[in-house]
Amino acid sequence: MIVIHTARELRKQIQLKKTSVGLVPTMGALHTGHLSLVKRASEENQLVIVSIYVNPTQFNDKKDLENYPKNLDQDLELLQSSSENIILYAPENDDIYPDGMVPKNFDFGSLALHMEGFSRPGHFDGVATVVEALLKNTTPTRAYFGEKDFQQLTIIKELNKQLKLGVEIISCPIIREKNGLAMSSRNQLLSPKDREEAKVIFKSLEAILKHAEKWTPHQMKQFFIAEVENLKGFKVEYFSVASPSDLIPVDHIEQHKMYRIFVAVYAGKTRLIDTVELKRK
Ligand code: PAJ
Repeated sequence: MIVIHTARELRKQIQLKKTSVGLVPTMGALHTGHLSLVKRASEENQLVIVSIYVNPTQFNDKKDLENYPKNLDQDLELLQSSSENIILYAPENDDIYPDGMVPKNFDFGSLALHMEGFSRPGHFDGVATVVEALLKNTTPTRAYFGEKDFQQLTIIKELNKQLKLGVEIISCPIIREKNGLAMSSRNQLLSPKDREEAKVIFKSLEAILKHAEKWTPHQMKQFFIAEVENLKGFKVEYFSVASPSDLIPVDHIEQHKMYRIFVAVYAGKTRLIDTVELKRK
């Protein structure tokens, strides 16, 4: 595996290979969820670039940035064992922010207003700034993102459209732990007890899906809060039912429209998010 730190070196490598390139942007502390994106990218492209960069401007909470897990040696090992044709791009700050570490201002309309956009002011400007830089520095054919961060994925599709970057944005399904908890780098920060109990998030979502025909979003939310907050140290930040296209939360469900449920939960000090499609018969 080749490890590269600057966009200049990267361009040389890509030109040398002249092939289809799949980009998997990450913030490291890699887990099986990330590796599922790498696997898909390896199947669909001749060359895969995995970027690891903990992007300061997308953290609205300084403590969250300080505590974000970092594990470059283990990440290298995991990538090495997952595929041969990988370039690891671990950019320096200058490579992403040549004019200083400030996020750009974007207008994503309703897509960035609710849920993560509401709870984490400035977060999506930070995400879009780094993803624009990564896409421009790596010029991939395809870029791979997880549905775990469905709002992020939708905003990146919009970014790609607004900036006419011409990259194929590929969405990948959520990979879960055995107990149903969505895999996340932040799961490492949970105590063993909280990590086990955090299965309540997905279990409650599954239970809600069984009642999707009858329950209003309000009833779903009441149920979710009751289940999750029954556990000591667990607190629901938001529970929203929203259309997957405009990401605007709704109070009423219309029979023939598509929806997703989006949740954010604190387990102790660790913030976890999850999302499921609201399937009805
Ligand atoms: P990070 O949280 O490291 O996630 C990198 C990619 O892996 C994202 O597209 C995310 O949705 C996907 N991912 C994470 N957990 C997953 C899971 N359990 N199943 C499937 N995919 C999963 O998201 C970011 O980094 C950053 O915001 C980034 C896009 C790199 C910009 O800084």
